[in-house]
Amino acid sequence: MEINLLDKLPKTKRNVSARAEAKTADVVEEARKFGELYFDGPRSYGYGGYRYDYRWLPVAKDIVAHFNLQPGMRVLDIGAGKGFLVNDLMQVCPGLEVFGLDVSRYAVQNCHPNVVGRMHVGDARDLPFPADSFDCVLSINTLHNLVRDDVIVALGEIERVARARRRGYVVVDAYRSEEQRALFEEWVLTALHFDTPDRWVELFNEAGYSGDWFWTILE
Ligand SMILES: C[S@@+](CC[C@H](N)C(=O)[O-])C[C@H]1O[C@@H](n2cnc3c(N)ncnc32)[C@H](O)[C@@H]1O
Repeated sequence: MEINLLDKLPKTKRNVSARAEAKTADVVEEARKFGELYFDGPRSYGYGGYRYDYRWLPVAKDIVAHFNLQPGMRVLDIGAGKGFLVNDLMQVCPGLEVFGLDVSRYAVQNCHPNVVGRMHVGDARDLPFPADSFDCVLSINTLHNLVRDDVIVALGEIERVARARRRGYVVVDAYRSEEQRALFEEWVLTALHFDTPDRWVELFNEAGYSGDWFWTILE
């Protein structure tokens, strides 16, 4: 089902025209390497400095409540970046066993100090975990970095490693109008697949994904 578990995140200020102006093929190529430039380089390459600032704590609280997560349960965050949400989930639910996976070696090597040893370098399309190894699997603002067919593969991977159906949560880039779509075209650096909510839901069904979802929509 559709549920916004990210509504307590502060709204990001985006200078869309500055991004659009700076967006060259070289910038996009660098950003898609998900290396230092993307996380901690100038804003034109990505985050413009990806630092821990407690913003995920209220989101972590809502995720724990929504999925009724309990100490001892195992959670995986796919596209975990530097593991900020991994850390915050364990802060709000001590005893929860949370792990992160990210394709970025840079992010994993520069992760939050509390999550060292809990972060894996890997690809959402081929999770290095056995079937049924997690009670809950999250992937926030990550899967749209894959082409459509690969999103389906990644959703299949979420279903494979999750012990129970309906304990997944994904947030992906979407648009409801042509204006929102145009804004995306200007802003996004790394996304390869974004679509309307209805078509995303079709994709979720096609993949046999049983979890929950929400959208990042630029306005
Ligand atoms: C926009 S960031 C989101 C990070 C974090 N989940 C958040 O919401 O702040 C996208 C993340 O996805 C990671 N990523 C991109 N492609 C990936 C893939 N194929 N498998 C795993 N992670 C990937 C990037 O390295 C980056 O950390």
